[in-house]
Amino acid sequence: MKILITGSKGQLGLELTKKLTKNKKYELILTDREALNIVDIDNVNEIILSNKPDVVINCAAHTAVDLCETDIENAYKINAIGPRNLAIACEKVGAKFVQVSTDYVFDGNGSRPYREDDVTCPNSIYGTSKLMGENFTKEFCSKYFIVRTAWLYGEGNNFVRTMIKLSETNKELNVVNDQFGSPTSTVDLAKAIIDLIHTEYYGTYHGTCEGQCSWYDFAKKIFEINNIDIKVNPVTSEEFKRPAPRPAYSVLDNFMFKLVGLNSFRNWEDSLREYLKNETLEEVATIKGD
Ligand SMILES: NC(=O)c1ccc[n+]([C@@H]2O[C@H](COP(=O)([O-])OP(=O)(O)OC[C@H]3O[C@@H](n4cnc5c(N)ncnc54)[C@H](OP(=O)(O)O)[C@@H]3O)[C@@H](O)[C@H]2O)c1
Repeated sequence: MKILITGSKGQLGLELTKKLTKNKKYELILTDREALNIVDIDNVNEIILSNKPDVVINCAAHTAVDLCETDIENAYKINAIGPRNLAIACEKVGAKFVQVSTDYVFDGNGSRPYREDDVTCPNSIYGTSKLMGENFTKEFCSKYFIVRTAWLYGEGNNFVRTMIKLSETNKELNVVNDQFGSPTSTVDLAKAIIDLIHTEYYGTYHGTCEGQCSWYDFAKKIFEINNIDIKVNPVTSEEFKRPAPRPAYSVLDNFMFKLVGLNSFRNWEDSLREYLKNETLEEVATIKGD
């Protein structure tokens, strides 16, 4: 199976690469922005038509949620036009197309986990541009998987690493306690995507670790697991203003994964524990110069 990954140096791209390279049955075409700029339709057509992959997994995105509020043109170019270009090219070569999306397509006013068919209503530029990317995907590619995930962490910049870094220079931290979601490890998400691409179960999926918490709970758990002694103060979104509004409640129900019998996502605390254990081991290896 020939698989092309865009944005392969991002968090999810790196984890997919790690998992897929372990198995010789996959032929990988790994691209970053330089090798394949998804915004450039000629570049997209050239690479996809010449390589003719069986599957394209789009891990490229403008993920700086606050910056998107002012960097609007780029947000729409990368998050909407990018997947449109890929969807069109995939259709030409008959490839399956995986478009990764977000819980921010919902407004967050719900009170039970969102299912795939719940009404979308993004309240940020990031969410709106990602939703447009979903719509283009459905419009231009017949063999698509849209996978909405949330609160993602892996190899790269993410909340877990930010908290640990901040704990090195602060005695206490203020963390938002009125936004709820499901922290999700790239390990779980990459596995779920790899399971999907072997099927013809096309459609839209929610893919997040099981369980839910607030950012405050998430931070407390990170410090608890790592035995970091720091005071964490719960604050409201009102007290901790950010340029982009966030959904208050964006817990996703992996309903479709459950329906097709492929819901392998672990509880968020178990995945976090494994991630932090590996992070610590890597640190030890770095210190030892391994
Ligand atoms: N991170 C989260 O918490 C989160 C939550 C929900 C959903 N998601 C979705 O999950 C997916 C993966 O997220 P992630 O956290 O792995 O993202 P990430 O670490 O920010 O990686 C995104 C990658 O996309 C690349 N990229 C940006 N513009 C590009 C372009 N025009 N052409 C080609 N590559 C480009 C970036 O390269 P440069 O470094 O060169 O910019 C970067 O390597 C995205 O679709 C994201 O929207 C993420």
